[in-house]
Amino acid sequence: MKALVLSGGSGTRLRPFSHSMPKQLIPIANKPVLEHVLENIRDLGVTEVGIIVGDWAPEIADVVGDGSRLGIRVTYIPQEAPLGLAHCVTLARPFLGDDDFVMYLGDNMLPEGVREVAESFRTRQPAAEVVVHRVPDPRAFGVAELGPDGTVERLVEKPREPRSDLALIGVYFFTPAIHEAVAAIEPSARGELEITDAIQWLVTRGAEVRATEYRGYWKDTGQAGDVLECNQTLLAGLTPGVLGSVDDASLLDGRVRIEPGARVTRSRIDGPAVIGAGTVIEDCHIGPDTSIGAGCVLRNTRVRDSIVMDGAEISGVPGLRYSLIGRNAVVGTGPTGDACHSLVVGDHTRIEVAA
Ligand code: TTP
Repeated sequence: MKALVLSGGSGTRLRPFSHSMPKQLIPIANKPVLEHVLENIRDLGVTEVGIIVGDWAPEIADVVGDGSRLGIRVTYIPQEAPLGLAHCVTLARPFLGDDDFVMYLGDNMLPEGVREVAESFRTRQPAAEVVVHRVPDPRAFGVAELGPDGTVERLVEKPREPRSDLALIGVYFFTPAIHEAVAAIEPSARGELEITDAIQWLVTRGAEVRATEYRGYWKDTGQAGDVLECNQTLLAGLTPGVLGSVDDASLLDGRVRIEPGARVTRSRIDGPAVIGAGTVIEDCHIGPDTSIGAGCVLRNTRVRDSIVMDGAEISGVPGLRYSLIGRNAVVGTGPTGDACHSLVVGDHTRIEVAA
């Protein structure tokens, strides 16, 4: 079996980050989403991985390289424009050949993995097997209607009155039968070749399409709030350890990881929290539910429930919460006078100040 990871797209919902980086490289517990995805694929025993890339191809290749660091072999497949998930399958045909494959959205987190679904697909050999997850409001998703034996009877995209709460999430297992389906469908109203249409095409023609429920934690990291929530969930499973230095005047409480070269001075860190390699923390109170990237400098600052990305500098800020601070961003105090803020804010940025 091969894997096809979708790491193109436009990421409009994750602006402003998607102006300067691909959303698949947003760090969750200090590791890019895409790396979590590729590790899950490797855990299925799949090592031949095609990655669909758009405008951010060089940045993605910088991080993933040839995949050897992650125990996989990567082939990059460029996509000129995000023309849909099924379009990605078409582009990948030369790479996929006539092999079975797992298609995985590069911004979806399923930390418990999909081994059970892969097992079911391998033993039963349906034409396709989709991963579904129960969601409170299925109206925003592709929804699967199942027969009593777990076969898919119908797929409906964003139904107004859903007949089931089983949403299609970002992982699909396919046999080569999908290639005929993606060749047969037309673009949808939003101009994309939809994978749900291709799977429905198989169902309509009597092919066996199965669904297996994923019962673990799932998150599409397409929006800032989702990224923070996902970070919190993953930090709960953090391996604690002090690989950097912590002075006697500092206190670490709970699940805290200090990466090599990080220096913590006169500070309190409440876990779960991770401090990235080479980062300097002085006179701060960090955490819980916070990850600080590599090469950051934080002084005199209180931050919790947040993600601070590599190279950011924060000083003199007494209360940051539910914040996503981008790479090399600088947040601090200045000579603006009482109760005034001075902001240099890029496109599509969101700022909420304390009332
Ligand atoms: P989406 O999140 O559905 O689309 P998007 O990336 O364009 O984001 P937004 O809605 O915020 O503008 O895409 C799911 C995943 O599939 C994501 O990792 C990007 C990837 N993708 C492609 O690689 N090619 C495509 O044509 C599309 C539509 C998505």
